[in-house]
Amino acid sequence: MGFAPQWLALRDAADRAARDDALMAAAARLAGAAPVIVDLGAGTGASVRALGRHVPDAARWRLVDNDAALLSLAVANHPNAQACQLDLNRLADLPLEGATLVSASALLDLVSEGWLRALVDVLTRHQLPFYAALSYDGVMHWQPDLPDDAGITAAFNRDQCTDKGFGPALGAASGHMARTLFEQAGYHVRLAQTPWVLDQQHARLQAELLDGIADAAARAGHGSAPAWNAARQGLVPQGTCTVGHVDILAVPAGRVAALDGHGGGHG
Ligand SMILES: C[S@@+](CC[C@H](N)C(=O)[O-])C[C@H]1O[C@@H](n2cnc3c(N)ncnc32)[C@H](O)[C@@H]1O
Repeated sequence: MGFAPQWLALRDAADRAARDDALMAAAARLAGAAPVIVDLGAGTGASVRALGRHVPDAARWRLVDNDAALLSLAVANHPNAQACQLDLNRLADLPLEGATLVSASALLDLVSEGWLRALVDVLTRHQLPFYAALSYDGVMHWQPDLPDDAGITAAFNRDQCTDKGFGPALGAASGHMARTLFEQAGYHVRLAQTPWVLDQQHARLQAELLDGIADAAARAGHGSAPAWNAARQGLVPQGTCTVGHVDILAVPAGRVAALDGHGGGHG
């Protein structure tokens, strides 16, 4: 799995189908009539493709990532977006000048509590709204089920908490931790469950996902991960898989009226 462009492309349609439309529409209202959106860990521009449908065409995007190859694909996909190559551990260098919304997708489960606290501090100082889609929530189900499913999920979830470049990762706890930290900072927070629901139409995604889950579970010490993967791969043509995510929208107290289309003017 990781951040390979092939993996990001394979998951793009499932991600877009899973995102909560009401939260995206609310995030777009908060971004205002002339949005300047800073997307963290932008990859190939998934947020532009998803959230871009809800904001005016003239929206300005700043895509932040430390991976130059992903950023060049992002600007090839979205020529009007600005690529900002930056290590997100340098939060003080985020290009927030004039920003009206900060966004992210499939990022929060990678970060540590310390990093998230620092991000909340930065956004609070700027009184900026924050929209983060598709943080893995630790819940996976398959049909038909297998005896090892729960043990594999537990091992995968342990691996999700290892350091992904930001210190010990929050993994499955990230969505709820984000809610707690933003609420403590005085933000109003909305959260939506946004699972992937994968069937035979997503056979390639399911197959690659299974390989990634089995590798991670093996790293976390699950001895039967290869056998579980072989059995699961055999069930892909008739099986379904649900992978839980949460989307979150955090709104500074003074901007709550804009959520429902009232008092939406920014600044
Ligand atoms: C799971 S991918 C998500 C990409 C994209 N947001 C999406 O939804 O398809 C995580 C992204 O975070 C970026 N990333 C990871 N660690 C980073 C760091 N320390 N600084 C900047 N970007 C980072 C990766 O390069 C990758 O593009």
